[in-house]
Amino acid sequence: MPQSTIESILQEKRLFHPSAEFSQNAHIKSLEEYQQLYDRAQADPQQFWGELAEKELDWFQKWDQVLDWQPPFAKWFVNGKINISYNCLDRHLTTWRKNKAALIWEGEPGDSRTLTYAQLHREVCQFANVLKQLGVEKGDRVGIYMPMIPEAAIAMLACARIGAAHTVVFGGFSAEALRDRLIDGQAKVVVTADGGWRKDAIVPLKEQVDKALAEGVPTVQNVLVVKRTGQQIHMEPGRDHWWDDLQKGVSANCPAEPMDSEDMLFILYTSGSTGKPKGVVHTTGGYNLYSHITTKWIFDLQDTDVYWCTADVGWITGHSYIVYGPLSNGATTVMYEGAPRNSNPGCFWDVIEKYGVTIFYTAPTAIRSFIKMGEHFPKARNLSSLRLLGTVGEPINPEAWMWYYKVIGGERCPIVDTWWQTETGGIMITALPGAIPTKPGSATRPFPGIIADVMDLDGNIVGDNEGGYLSVKYPWPGMMRTVYGDPDRFRRTYWEHIPPKDGNYTYFAGDGARKDEDGYYWVMGRVDDVINVAGHRLGTMEIESALVSHPAVAEAAVVGKPDELKGEEIVAFVTLDSTFTASDELAKELKKHVVGEIGAIARPGEIRFTEALPKTRSGKIMRRLLRNLAAGQDVSGDTSTLEDRGVLDKLREGA
Ligand code: PRX
Repeated sequence: MPQSTIESILQEKRLFHPSAEFSQNAHIKSLEEYQQLYDRAQADPQQFWGELAEKELDWFQKWDQVLDWQPPFAKWFVNGKINISYNCLDRHLTTWRKNKAALIWEGEPGDSRTLTYAQLHREVCQFANVLKQLGVEKGDRVGIYMPMIPEAAIAMLACARIGAAHTVVFGGFSAEALRDRLIDGQAKVVVTADGGWRKDAIVPLKEQVDKALAEGVPTVQNVLVVKRTGQQIHMEPGRDHWWDDLQKGVSANCPAEPMDSEDMLFILYTSGSTGKPKGVVHTTGGYNLYSHITTKWIFDLQDTDVYWCTADVGWITGHSYIVYGPLSNGATTVMYEGAPRNSNPGCFWDVIEKYGVTIFYTAPTAIRSFIKMGEHFPKARNLSSLRLLGTVGEPINPEAWMWYYKVIGGERCPIVDTWWQTETGGIMITALPGAIPTKPGSATRPFPGIIADVMDLDGNIVGDNEGGYLSVKYPWPGMMRTVYGDPDRFRRTYWEHIPPKDGNYTYFAGDGARKDEDGYYWVMGRVDDVINVAGHRLGTMEIESALVSHPAVAEAAVVGKPDELKGEEIVAFVTLDSTFTASDELAKELKKHVVGEIGAIARPGEIRFTEALPKTRSGKIMRRLLRNLAAGQDVSGDTSTLEDRGVLDKLREGA
């Protein structure tokens, strides 16, 4: 985080209350009501979640036990039978919502499509039958590598319907990254498109799939291709099929498969402290409840709302808050293929005006880029339909918060700053907009049922306003269940940083935070080797592995440098193999190489060549020193454990 942001967050004292009108109509209407819910959930979490599961979801068979907790492994709603596609679709068809818009889609070139619940149900059932015809069975994995088009949501829901787990890979990841994920998840089928629109250019998705499969992903038998951009692509006979050809004439009758609560719903890969991304596993019943109830209370969904989350379905935010949470609630969810770009910097405001969006959920980086583009773009549109705003993905600086509040929200919309992670399945710390007054830069309070705290590494709760580690002391229904294929890594990564005491396990989120005297949380950013670039989470070791796979690179150390717009920027310190010499050309090539290995989101902002990396006497790279150096800070006090002080002088000279 930039130093200026830290300073302004530390000084922030303003408090913003929702209007009386907002609170009166909200699901949770007052701080007292929130506190009562919170206290009740804390006193008996199982009763709290059990009651909600019964009231909010349709089950084919009720559970025997709300929670079976064998730390760190949890089973929620044991022996319950449920299907999330049923909860997102079928159950609305017997109500007036049958002909309500479920999905409103806006394509980047300006084409659009609206699917009612009945229409979406039909398409999902048909595609579920297509998958079955291709031999996809309950328990199989399906890779989804798609642009932001309705078929991405249809494919996810169709998998859920037949009990195949989906593994969505963000369309910005490279063929290499896609391949790793398909192999790890042993995907049987890949669903993709010929291409997708991204800032007026075509992303050649199918070409990337071909590259990913060229070196062999033995489990993949079929590739389904949506025609989106219409450019020429290769179709491998026997393996590749056009979506439309297979969907045509297929029966729309496909009853939802009763799934065990703990059957896997999806795998989603995310970056951590090691080189290899982790397959985060979410299961059916608990995730359905958690994504449902958080969407309902945090976005205060009402039947008249038009809800828009600008994330991509390739990230957890897209899973929980474009697809599953909103649809489970019978809401109208907007999906937009485009992004603000030079040719149309005001496109977000066009979408809000066109569809009368009432709830808008986006990332702080996007807000900062809107500030830079200028107020005249949003001011040229009618944004009066908006009644609630949200942010996610990174800490928001109070200046950006205030701009969002005034310019976009017209000083009438509460802002929910939602802290959570791929691993948590849903939002954990946030305001409930009608109940909890907000402070710019604070995610405010834990969601009812989330027993969070700020701790030191011994598990002691730190004092008010003291920095510590954001932790959760009790399981919750939306929590990840394991790392796919590596339960031990799950235990080590999340449950042992804070040593278990007397059988009590604490979830370690990897974020630094402080809690103020009002119990408000202020998330300060990652404390591990993960950097957050424009709300995208990247492992430094992942980028280092990509760099050292280039023949010129001997050693690499990657750190985050504070950036006013993107939060952080990637800086790579690189030593070269002796047969190569440093040059601007080589720096460019290395950046390109990282893009090829991971994707454009991982492109280093800066490559700094150096003769050696600063190491401790025991050979550990001194990342903190590099971070400070990258940030242009004075590092003279950091060097007592440095093995060779000459390295530092050279690094400084290089800078
Ligand atoms: O560092 C926190 C940051 O994003 C991380 C989780 O990233 P990911 O799994 O990709 O999920 C992003 C969308 C939920 C967290 O560990 N983060 C997320 N939301 C916030 C945040 N940091 C501060 N404030 C937030 N509201």
